[in-house]
Amino acid sequence: MKMSVIGTGYLGAVHAACMAHIGHEVVAYDTDAAKIATLSTGASPFYEPGFDELLAEVLATGRLRFTQSVQEAVTGASVHFVCVGTPQLAGSDAANIAYVDSAFRSVAAHADCDGLVVGKSTVPVGTAQRLAAEVAETSSEHRLEVAWNPEFLREGKAIEDTLAPDRLVFGVTSEYAEKTLQEVYGSIIEAGTPHLTADLPTSELVKVAANAFLATKISFINAMAEVCEIVDADVVTLSRALGYDDRIGKRFLNAGLGFGGGCLPKDIRAFSARAGELGASDALRFLHEVDKINLRRREKAVAVARALVGGDFLGKSIAVLGAAFKPNSDDVRDSPALNVAAAMHLKGADVRVHDPKAIENAKARFPTLGYFDSAEEACRNADLIVLATEWDEYCNIDPASFRSVVKQARLLDTRNAIDRDYWTGAGWQVYSLGRGGLTG
Ligand code: UGA
Repeated sequence: MKMSVIGTGYLGAVHAACMAHIGHEVVAYDTDAAKIATLSTGASPFYEPGFDELLAEVLATGRLRFTQSVQEAVTGASVHFVCVGTPQLAGSDAANIAYVDSAFRSVAAHADCDGLVVGKSTVPVGTAQRLAAEVAETSSEHRLEVAWNPEFLREGKAIEDTLAPDRLVFGVTSEYAEKTLQEVYGSIIEAGTPHLTADLPTSELVKVAANAFLATKISFINAMAEVCEIVDADVVTLSRALGYDDRIGKRFLNAGLGFGGGCLPKDIRAFSARAGELGASDALRFLHEVDKINLRRREKAVAVARALVGGDFLGKSIAVLGAAFKPNSDDVRDSPALNVAAAMHLKGADVRVHDPKAIENAKARFPTLGYFDSAEEACRNADLIVLATEWDEYCNIDPASFRSVVKQARLLDTRNAIDRDYWTGAGWQVYSLGRGGLTG
């Protein structure tokens, strides 16, 4: 099938490449000239495991092209995927859906044949119905219909989540739209992926409800960590014991520095804001608490770090391992790691940051922090190491040989990622969030 993809961020670029990989002819459009130029040469503007290889493969087939002309992308295509961002509005909890609105308008203005405009962006419930009415009004020459097909991809696992997702959700208003989406995802459905058909508002809600649930699960275990800290209990053991119960499940139950990134934090806020507009504030009031628990973990990490360096950051050298909001990503949007690093720097610490992939993005956001090319350099003569993003590289550090690098063999593990006993046995003092006090 011939299709256009509007927006080439994480979602759009990966979706476009995956659609070409399963045999479609795809033209992907973005307003960002630099991004289009980079993607066209087969390089990725962001770090995503396996994406460079996939891009090379599909560009070589000729089934994927990138363009800065929306007309070129839309012409001749019968399916258009809208994959633009919906960031948090400045000064508000609500989502900014201006890019989505403008993408739908552009497609309607340039479409030269009948087709389906499929929203993949995460939007406030009710957006799809409004856009369906607007598109029907503006596209008089050709029959254009709107569908919603939310994405559930995780950064770091984006390709796997697109080609073999847990489920596909088709928000549709006609048999034509349903059949078209079944054809688009034919090979993925044949491979056994469950697919559900829903009305437009339900399909929008599936996405925000999923992210709200995941955020709630993380904040639940972090709330338990707060209690564990008071009674000297161990949240890691607690989480493991809870996870054996199939009804609870062990995934997304890792206590630590909490959730960040470009999705969970802004999605729960936008969901609450939308509920307020719809007169359903009470139903989602708990999400404010989920947000507050999450942000409290960052404050706790800073308070513990301060205590560990003797109660005052001034004149203290602190190595922060990790800047990305999670491992296997170079994304620093609302990164808990960087947030903690910046807070300690503001309070007077000499903060030395390392990350295997996210240094450039981190520098652009927080240029005044110290950045180093290796974990070892960042940790040299440090009074304290704060492990803030659980990259494998950090979990595999040999604590015995690393002792000679630092001034004080003291580690704050904010992600409960290292083997605490192993490090303690190698002569380190370790503080793990939610696991009682300092060891060693
Ligand atoms: C999230 C969802 O998981 C995807 O399903 C969704 O498609 C995506 O948002 C989106 O809306 O586009 P992502 O933001 O890539 O994906 O990251 P997650 O893997 O969900 O992690 C989010 C944050 O939670 C990270 O900061 C991670 O460190 C933290 N986390 C995760 C925990 O603190 N504890 C856990 O047990 C799991």
